[in-house]
Amino acid sequence: MKTRSGLVDLPLAKVFTCIEQGPVLLVTTRDGRKNNVMTITWSSVLDFTGHFCIVTGSWNYSCRALLKNSECVVAIPPATMLETAVDIGMCSGADTDKFRRFGLTALKAQEVKAPLLGECLANIECRVSDYVTAHNIFVLAAVKAWINPACSDHRIAHAIGDGTFTIDGERVNLRSRMAEKIPDGV
Ligand SMILES: Cc1cc2nc3c(=O)[nH]c(=O)nc-3n(C[C@H](O)[C@H](O)[C@H](O)COP(=O)(O)O)c2cc1C
Repeated sequence: MKTRSGLVDLPLAKVFTCIEQGPVLLVTTRDGRKNNVMTITWSSVLDFTGHFCIVTGSWNYSCRALLKNSECVVAIPPATMLETAVDIGMCSGADTDKFRRFGLTALKAQEVKAPLLGECLANIECRVSDYVTAHNIFVLAAVKAWINPACSDHRIAHAIGDGTFTIDGERVNLRSRMAEKIPDGV
């Protein structure tokens, strides 16, 4: 695995600003000696301190690693990676080495064994803090987060859920109308 040189710290207090946008996510896990990655579009912020949740269940190979190791990396791909992100979500680590198949760059994380994704805009190292089995909800606690300044495309993709997607367009700043304490985002 390569080193993560070039990545910059993202304070945990800003992690929610990555997830609140409802981005297409890539979730990496490491099961023993094998890295895997899946696509997730069902997610939600839970607080301002780096807790958020993703929805996935035992039908995915990644679920076993999440339950076994209680950790993962949640990465935000740039819009230019959208087609790859969809393809990643259409095959399984059960029979495919997705890092090899999609030419993904695995970087060593700081706090977890799952790899960071070198192509992504942001990487959030997480521990599983709860699993709500009735709804297949993994509650994640961010323990370390990174921004990738080398990523030139800052647009994020969002799933509608019917096979169509939107890609970030204009960003509007209404901070002056909101609470003074609202933190800066990414
Ligand atoms: C656009 C897209 C979004 C997806 N979102 C989710 C999701 O939110 N939750 C989920 O469990 N699976 C989701 N999937 C399906 C998984 O990514 C897919 O089952 C994946 O191949 C599982 O990989 P694994 O078996 O290696 O864990 C999505 C797939 C695509 C293409």
